[in-house]
Amino acid sequence: MVGVTRSPVQSELDAEFEYGPSFPEGYRPGIGIVGCGEIVKTAHLPGYARYGQRVVGVYDIRREATEGVRERFGVETVFDELDELLSHPEIEIVDVATHPDVRPALVRQALAAGKHVLAQKPLAPDLQTARELVEEAERLGLMLAVNQNGRWAPAWRAATLLIEQGAIGDVVAVTHLYHHNYGFTLGTVFDEIEHLVLYDYSVHWFDITRCWLDGKTARSVRALEYRTPNQPAESSAPWGAWATIDYEDGSSALIRGVGCAETTRPRKLYWIHGSEGTMRGAVLGSGPVPGSESLELERDGRTTRFQLEGSWHTDGFAGAMGELVTAIAEQREPYNSARHNLLSLELTFAACRSAEDDGRPVAVQCAPSRGGDV
Ligand SMILES: NC(=O)c1ccc[n+]([C@@H]2O[C@H](COP(=O)([O-])OP(=O)(O)OC[C@H]3O[C@@H](n4cnc5c(N)ncnc54)[C@H](O)[C@@H]3O)[C@@H](O)[C@H]2O)c1
Repeated sequence: MVGVTRSPVQSELDAEFEYGPSFPEGYRPGIGIVGCGEIVKTAHLPGYARYGQRVVGVYDIRREATEGVRERFGVETVFDELDELLSHPEIEIVDVATHPDVRPALVRQALAAGKHVLAQKPLAPDLQTARELVEEAERLGLMLAVNQNGRWAPAWRAATLLIEQGAIGDVVAVTHLYHHNYGFTLGTVFDEIEHLVLYDYSVHWFDITRCWLDGKTARSVRALEYRTPNQPAESSAPWGAWATIDYEDGSSALIRGVGCAETTRPRKLYWIHGSEGTMRGAVLGSGPVPGSESLELERDGRTTRFQLEGSWHTDGFAGAMGELVTAIAEQREPYNSARHNLLSLELTFAACRSAEDDGRPVAVQCAPSRGGDV
């Protein structure tokens, strides 16, 4: 487990907490991965390998996508057929890492085969389908978790834990500014995704914001998506977007994604304002980005700085899987359960609808966040 490096400036708050990925002692279930694309090879497999998890096998409809995974990551088997993976007795968890268009059908097949499921984000192409998947898993007594790995990005995870400790009192405002450049989407299926920025990418920001403002009632969402002046003419999806969330008690959130950033330091910055203090931090982008994730807590006139070990891509992915494995071992609902994710999705879809309507507020119904014991 990873601990916090404390700066000499120290607060009296209990800052000794574990924010890294956590797996239970003595339980190492077999994992089967369906869809072996870019993100599996750059984040899922490195993350599982780093934390000693057992990947029994992978399957991809394009066999070439699985090339080298045995040698590089110790994957035991490359399956020729999906059914071979789903019927493998040592696979307890199926990690569905395709795009969302084919995800619901694959999740259903895995559940029908009696497996717990970790689904990549966004869980489903629409809210109704997501609800049906949640109900299907609960009916079968299986766990369905969502790979909202951002929840375990070190600087977001540490902030979540500090909020839970009451470090800044009641959270009243969340503000995000993330640098990003969608150049990597050119010529890929990502460029064809409707609401690429709000739906496929910003779902992480809706999700973490919803975690930090947990327990509050979201009233409405406003959002816009727009082409940035410097994005290439051949790109289809708009690269710029912002969204706001308004809460019944006056709390608010702003997510601003700069989609055309030319920077060697593509950070995801955030500010969390509370009734008793403020936090500000930076999560690193993917790839070889210099520096480390950081978090600053200001309260009672003192500032505490945390330099955090690890990164979103790798540790965050292990964190999402670790929570599911731990929840199975402890027979409780995982923090990243699909049910908990419904509100994140609802906010995301409300933003998409608002962007289609020139930024008009879209009301949120507020999906219940917790079901019964699984
Ligand atoms: N931080 C994150 O959590 C993060 C980062 C990047 C991507 N993603 C998400 O991960 C998903 C995949 O992204 P990617 O970049 O790996 O895409 P990708 O296109 O590189 O990979 C998708 C893979 O799924 C395979 N596939 C498609 N249909 C299949 C089927 N029916 N059965 C088995 N395999 C099938 C494809 O052949 C391909 O190899 C997307 O939903 C994306 O939003 C998440």
